[in-house]
Amino acid sequence: MIKSTSEVRQAFLDFFATKQHQIVKSSSLVPGNDATLLFTNAGMVPFKDVFLGAEHRSYTRATSAQRCVRAGGKHNDLENVGYTARHHTFFEMMGNFSFGDYFKEKAISYAWEFLTTVLGLPKEKLLVTIYDTDEEAYAYWKDEIGVPAEKIIRIGDKPGGKKFESDNFWSMGDTGPCGPCSEIFYDHGEHIWGGPPGSPEEDGDRFIEIWNIVFMQFNRQSNGDMDPLPNPSIDTGMGLERISAIMQDVHSNYEIDIFQALIKDTAALLNCTDLEHKSLRVISDHIRSCSFLIVDGVVPSNEGRGYVLRRIIRRAIRHGHKLEAQGNFFHKLVASLIKQMGGAYPELVQQQAIIEKLLRIEEEQFGRTLDRGMLLLEDILANLSGDTIKGDDVFKLYDTYGFPADLTADIARERNLKIDQDGFDIAMGEQRERAQKASQFGTDYNQQLKSDHTTEFKGYDNDSYSATVVELFNNQDHTAISQLNAGEQGLVILDHTPFYAESGGQVGDSGFLHLDGGTFEVNDTIKLGNAFAHVGTAHTNIGLNRRVKAEINVERRSAITKNHTATHLLHAALRKVLGEHVTQKGSLCDADKLRFDFSHFEAVTAKELQTVETMVNDEIRRNHARETQSMYIDEAKEKGAMALFGEKYDDEVRVVTLGGFSIELCGGVHVDRTGDIGLLKIVSESGIAAGVRRIEAVTGTGALNFINQQSASLASIASLVKSDVSNAGNKVEQLVSRTKQLEKEIAQLKQELAAQAGSDLVNNAIEINGIKVLIADLGGVESKALRGMVDELKNKMQSGVIMLATANDDKVGLIAGVTKDLVGRVKAGELVNMVAQQVGGKGGGRPDMAQAGGSQPENITAALATVSPWLAEKLS
Ligand code: ALA
Repeated sequence: MIKSTSEVRQAFLDFFATKQHQIVKSSSLVPGNDATLLFTNAGMVPFKDVFLGAEHRSYTRATSAQRCVRAGGKHNDLENVGYTARHHTFFEMMGNFSFGDYFKEKAISYAWEFLTTVLGLPKEKLLVTIYDTDEEAYAYWKDEIGVPAEKIIRIGDKPGGKKFESDNFWSMGDTGPCGPCSEIFYDHGEHIWGGPPGSPEEDGDRFIEIWNIVFMQFNRQSNGDMDPLPNPSIDTGMGLERISAIMQDVHSNYEIDIFQALIKDTAALLNCTDLEHKSLRVISDHIRSCSFLIVDGVVPSNEGRGYVLRRIIRRAIRHGHKLEAQGNFFHKLVASLIKQMGGAYPELVQQQAIIEKLLRIEEEQFGRTLDRGMLLLEDILANLSGDTIKGDDVFKLYDTYGFPADLTADIARERNLKIDQDGFDIAMGEQRERAQKASQFGTDYNQQLKSDHTTEFKGYDNDSYSATVVELFNNQDHTAISQLNAGEQGLVILDHTPFYAESGGQVGDSGFLHLDGGTFEVNDTIKLGNAFAHVGTAHTNIGLNRRVKAEINVERRSAITKNHTATHLLHAALRKVLGEHVTQKGSLCDADKLRFDFSHFEAVTAKELQTVETMVNDEIRRNHARETQSMYIDEAKEKGAMALFGEKYDDEVRVVTLGGFSIELCGGVHVDRTGDIGLLKIVSESGIAAGVRRIEAVTGTGALNFINQQSASLASIASLVKSDVSNAGNKVEQLVSRTKQLEKEIAQLKQELAAQAGSDLVNNAIEINGIKVLIADLGGVESKALRGMVDELKNKMQSGVIMLATANDDKVGLIAGVTKDLVGRVKAGELVNMVAQQVGGKGGGRPDMAQAGGSQPENITAALATVSPWLAEKLS
């Protein structure tokens, strides 16, 4: 009896295996071959190029359980999650595929056989839809399968919509493979409201689509043209959660085994007794998408895929707070998810620690601002007129408190309100514009110049090569010319070249083109399409069709390749030490250094850096022979070759292997053996954007120079502290603590001196109306010392009034003191304030002692001169 979700998943794959389908493992949620797509949103995505005829596989029939995310992008369900019985951000799509093998008939009969025979669904509970004009599918359903005519529903294009805009015409995205489709629906029974597809009640929950069979026939172009595919193909999709709901005799996807377990665990964690609470559904949906996105290398950030992940996490956290979650809870659900899905997806188990860590960090960050953001939002809602939150307010919540707009929309929706999405987009656009203006872009040759030539690269094995000039550009207006004259700058394109043109992070080569009578000096090499352009200065006339001997600067190239190969080692080591979530975000290898940017969510610790550096150097000393091989992309991936996240590769790729340590797709030039690198020293580690770190390092002679410089500064420090290098650290430590000690002693001495000077001042006291008065400008005595002096003076005078001033670095310090017996007649606070006002300050304090500051030392003398008359009046 097939019942549990994992049984359904297995039964599906097994069934299609018996029909000669290759079982293909689920691909990543980040499409490896497609920049037009945010996430893998259907089972066919990994096969897109196979449908288009651009990629060939060893099989023509395949089946898979593909993990999918529908959040952001064309198929976006984020906002519906929690509000309907069937929407998810993450789900598994079961599919069978034919690449030019079988077509409509077999696809239909396989689906029917699986549903009615393997799963045993009653035929009378099923009905089907076809694209309006698809007579072929209609006839097959009716005559061969035997579905009664009234249960075959024709669905056409949407009224008022474009051609092929129909529920029965499926497209992957705005471009790409597409075709008419036929869907199978399940009737959950009369007790549930809703009507069959095409009826006015179709949005009800009674008739649920369970299987979509797409007859892939076209490749939609960006201009809307429908190019026929090389071979009519089949793409089908059956949502695993929906079919499991049927097998488990429940109506909502959230009632199936996996979700019930997740919901129970979430409820227990949050002490929630209402298992029907919508927020429990939202959280248990979101823990699935978030965990799997992290498994596939997505890291929360403020743009692209990372931002969608962040939005989902924040939505989950907010729903946790609705259930009065105490502290961080979301990351604790990873363990529960692993219990449910770890068996089918071992990568979840392998990456548990990193998933938990990333989620926890995000919870901590957002948790800090969530409450304050909610206060602001409540404020906005309290003052709202109408039912729409202003775009500016939505933006402010986003900008200040990290509330993604759809989070605010979610909260608004709970209260039957809306947000002004357009207004938000405008505010967002304005911010982007400001940011763009703030950064400057240089001009780029590649944008302005075009060449139709193809240069054959000979530089993997040659430092110099004879070649012919096939195209020339001058450097002023970048036009094609027939000759560059001596002294002019320009670009030379050759038919063959040993010069590597900048790409994949490796900078272009420099060197010389030798020809009879002189040279062309190459400063850089860049790619213009398939042509390699040598950028530099002509030292003799050079014309089209000239023969040249192209010779690279070998020393520079050698330094560059050391850095490039070391980058591969570094990449592999980072993944081993920090985790598999580390993916390359950018790299630069020039002759001086290597720079590697990668995804990681916090600073790499000194200890981790040390481990990485040691690991790389161990591999350098193992002196692996570098191997390069050309192979099919699938084979490369099979071998575990690291490919760049989201990059499109040709069918045939170049794979660079360094022992068993690193295997990476790469077109760059490398050293022969890792030992050639000599040594790697990490020079710096820093953060360059949210979730992206940068390491800079040096190798070979560069590393030696770096170490020599460091030793030289160490030696000079040692000689300054009169020690040997090995003892310099201790010596410096001693000196630092001795300096601190001395500073303390000096401060104390100063105070004593000042106190001494203060008590000597007593002799300067004058008498006003029989009262002893001391008024003094102390020049540069530290303000800190004033208090002690006044105490001392009061003691000595027994009875009297004291007014002292001092100036340090343009700052005036003032203090007034009045002995207890006189506070009834003169208040220290009033006195000090009277003086302070004349030196640009203000003050006050106790009647017996008060301090103040000021900013006009030049007025001290005049201000102090007013003290006697002022006191004379007070004391009269
Ligand atoms: N690609 C089709 C879908 O996602 C099967 O519905």
